[in-house]
Amino acid sequence: MFDYERLEALSIEGEAPQSEPERQYYFMKKCRQWAEEEKERIGHPLTMSIQTLGCQMNAKDSEKMTAILEYIGYKEVEEPVADFVLYNTCTVRENANLKIYGRLGYLKNHKKKNPSMRIALCGCMMQEADEVERIRKSYSFVDLVFGTHNIYKLAELLYTQVQSARPVMDVWKEAKEIVEDLPGKRKYPFKTGVNIMYGCNNFCSYCIVPYVRGRERSREPEDIISEIKGLVADGVVEVMLLGQNVNSYGKTLENPVTFANLLRQVNEIEGLKRIRFMTSHPKDLSDELIEAMAECDKVCTHLHLPLQSGSTEILKKMNRKYTKESYLSLVERIREKNPKLSLTTDISLTTDIIVGFPGETEEDFEDTLDVVRKVRYDSAYTFIYSKRTGTPAAAMENQVPEEVVKERFDRLLHEVQGISTEITKSIEGETVPVLVEEINTQNEELLTGRLSNNAVVHFPGDVSLIGEILPVKLVESKGFYYMGEIVK
Ligand code: SAH
Ligand code: SF4
Ligand code: F3S
Repeated sequence: MFDYERLEALSIEGEAPQSEPERQYYFMKKCRQWAEEEKERIGHPLTMSIQTLGCQMNAKDSEKMTAILEYIGYKEVEEPVADFVLYNTCTVRENANLKIYGRLGYLKNHKKKNPSMRIALCGCMMQEADEVERIRKSYSFVDLVFGTHNIYKLAELLYTQVQSARPVMDVWKEAKEIVEDLPGKRKYPFKTGVNIMYGCNNFCSYCIVPYVRGRERSREPEDIISEIKGLVADGVVEVMLLGQNVNSYGKTLENPVTFANLLRQVNEIEGLKRIRFMTSHPKDLSDELIEAMAECDKVCTHLHLPLQSGSTEILKKMNRKYTKESYLSLVERIREKNPKLSLTTDISLTTDIIVGFPGETEEDFEDTLDVVRKVRYDSAYTFIYSKRTGTPAAAMENQVPEEVVKERFDRLLHEVQGISTEITKSIEGETVPVLVEEINTQNEELLTGRLSNNAVVHFPGDVSLIGEILPVKLVESKGFYYMGEIVK
């Protein structure tokens, strides 16, 4: 747990300590001292803008970095321009990278007007040597570049940059240690993600994540439990356990623990109300886990189970290690054991699907549609295959022509949306527990909340209800969300 008193007690008179997290405490305090002077110099309080792309892992990393920067003295603003602009990047698909270069062009002009502005890039895209090289050559106004493995060193990197007044680029190929006990800042006071493991060992042939996030490393269960207990004491009612493949959690620990076992331990934590987790790889989803999910009352009635493709042939080329049939039978087992959602007959299943993997034939694609129709997902994230340099799939022959992919993508989307609408409609009129999450972004008079199955509902209510779990009647289904009202 982060201990504010330990940080305050640390002296910054001498050299920086070698051990972590003290070393980072030292640099956070050094930066804070500098920020006071900087504030005087530029004549206004320091602001920061943190833009996060990509998945829950990045969202969690950004929460950690926000806390460090806030301690230093930066105040977060909504605008894209500030004294410190940080982009936490994603590189899972090509268009995520293109977005960053577009943004840098825009920031360059602002920096000309405000030379004391600092621009920092971190995260997955920075783990790619080619991208870092391009930034070094053509975007020399970027002040800080670091990767996914040294996020915790943000204060040290910033201090080095400030002292040298030159760009600092520090990207590690591999993770060295898991550094904990740094401060955290939550986007929502009542819910947050908790890392249970880092990295990925699966090497699905299309995916760049194992290359940019490194090998799989699990945290000790005691550390996870004590973090969650601390969060609950601080007002958290919902946690999302995070890992690229949570089902293989704990296998590499000195004393191996299964994910099912961890889930049971988390379920015991008093005061915690909801547990979610992401992501489950079908190949490692054990019967033990299916049982644990059914037995643990706090585990939400939602499972994200990426399919990627419904064709056994393509799954093999993707290195996913399951077949169309084994996936379908897994879904059957999950549904048999988890009929606990009081209102619908089944647990909600959602998925990720890639269209246009190299060599995908019309027949292969039909298999994907077939699985979609059989499983009937509550919702699905559909992606057009994106070629990632360095992955085995990038070198595969028979890349599918763009028009064909586009046409399949539209057909898939149509299928997915049709089913999704029907499923949403099926519980219209029911009253369900909803965690009130925020004021509606479109209409300030409405609140937005989530059902256990992760569906979204908007309803009138007072802002003081945020963070509570309340019964809400799903008055009208609107395709992929509901309009509702609180039942008193
Ligand atoms: N670990 C998670 C997924 C992380 S990436 C899992 O295994 O499910 C999130 C999603 O991005 C993946 O599920 C996949 O559908 C998609 N994705 C990954 N690489 C991709 C690529 N090269 N092109 C298109 N989509 C991709
Ligand atoms: Fe990528 Fe596969 Fe790992 Fe998911 S399991 S992060 S898709 S390599
Ligand atoms: Fe993107 Fe990195 Fe997540 S590549 S999807 S932010 S692990």
